[in-house]
Amino acid sequence: MLQTVEHSVSARDVLLARYQAVRVASARMCASLEPAEYRLQPIDDVSPPWWNLGHTSWFFARNVLASLGGAITADDAQYDYLLNSYYASLGARLPRSQRGAVSRPTTEEIYAYRASVDERVQQLVETIDSFHWPALEYLLRIGIEHEQQHQELFYTEIKFILAQNPPPLRRSYCDSPSTHREEEQARPLQFCSVPGGLVEIGSVEDDWCWDNELPAHKYYLVPYELADRLVTNQEYLEFIDDGGYRNQLLWLDNGWQQRTAHAWQAPLYWERNDGVWQIWTLAGYQPLRPHEPVSHLSFYEADAFARWRSETRQEESRVRLPSEREWEHAARRFGETNAATAFLDAGLLHPQSQTPVANAVQALREMSGVLWQWTSSYYEPYPGYRPFPGVLAEYNGKFMDNQRVLRGGSCVTPRNHYRLSYRNFWSAATRFQFTGVRLARDSA
Ligand SMILES: [Fe+2]
Repeated sequence: MLQTVEHSVSARDVLLARYQAVRVASARMCASLEPAEYRLQPIDDVSPPWWNLGHTSWFFARNVLASLGGAITADDAQYDYLLNSYYASLGARLPRSQRGAVSRPTTEEIYAYRASVDERVQQLVETIDSFHWPALEYLLRIGIEHEQQHQELFYTEIKFILAQNPPPLRRSYCDSPSTHREEEQARPLQFCSVPGGLVEIGSVEDDWCWDNELPAHKYYLVPYELADRLVTNQEYLEFIDDGGYRNQLLWLDNGWQQRTAHAWQAPLYWERNDGVWQIWTLAGYQPLRPHEPVSHLSFYEADAFARWRSETRQEESRVRLPSEREWEHAARRFGETNAATAFLDAGLLHPQSQTPVANAVQALREMSGVLWQWTSSYYEPYPGYRPFPGVLAEYNGKFMDNQRVLRGGSCVTPRNHYRLSYRNFWSAATRFQFTGVRLARDSA
């Protein structure tokens, strides 16, 4: 009995410590913002930071405190309409496009609300009886992972928000420039042969995971090849210079319509001045580094690029984007990650090549923690998928419609939020996320 109590106390301490660490991190990443920067929503997809901070707090109030007998305040009800993102079962909510249009609650009030939620969550964790502890542990963990998703979103959103200012007036998010490798020759892109067969897909490592990573299942893969690194800026520039954005035959029809409607001529954040390319980063403008992985492009651009490579290089005639299952199986077998330059924890806030110049043992570089990689797969349920019970059934399942899956995490993904089976998903035209391209090839 004593052992059970000690174990239980320790589990509470561990979970509470993780909760507090995540909450502190969210506030810390906003510490350098100026008042106006908390409030802006330049496009529907980009929520303002005030909302991010409030919504993640509301999530704990609504899904943890209210469900398990925690303390409830008038603010919980008052903010319900504003801070509910998309949970139809929880009632009416502010249209997503209006998050930048409201001036109340003030940013100070949102910070006060966060503090109130933190106090009440801590009280609940410390006092809940052992019978209800498993339910609290389950819901609190989802809330923590949810907030980490919003931490990644924050970096992509503030990058986009700051980029709306005229170039001479732009303020960078961080003062110090991203550290980067000195310019060096990129290793030619090589393809790693991956034996096919019946493979295991999904949450096979048995870690905590979202409902959409389950059930783990077997899937038959035909042998294939996967590029051993991400596509670089230099390689993408060749596509641009060869008229890739002007050749309709390279594009899916919806992609061509997007490219035309938005006058795409290069990835998001690329700007050419006097013939010289530069890119907007969280550390301000940087020269376009040829051997850095290309980032901030849509599925349509990634797909057109792959088609262009297959048509212009004889040795790559079978090139395409990988399916999500091809990506996951190869990552599990051959993926390597250099923690020093990967994930949010590395602090680079920018994708960096991890591929050694010299020939090395065949391995797949930059698989995790550099850029989310577009796959050819539509976001669909795995066979036998069951959504989370209750309100949280809306978390993932209802978005399994007309979106593409991305794999790999990025330089702004918290490391302890990620697994190889992690499935990200966005509409095919999305460019403001830290997205990149890895090519695949049919085996000969
Ligand atoms: Fe959310």
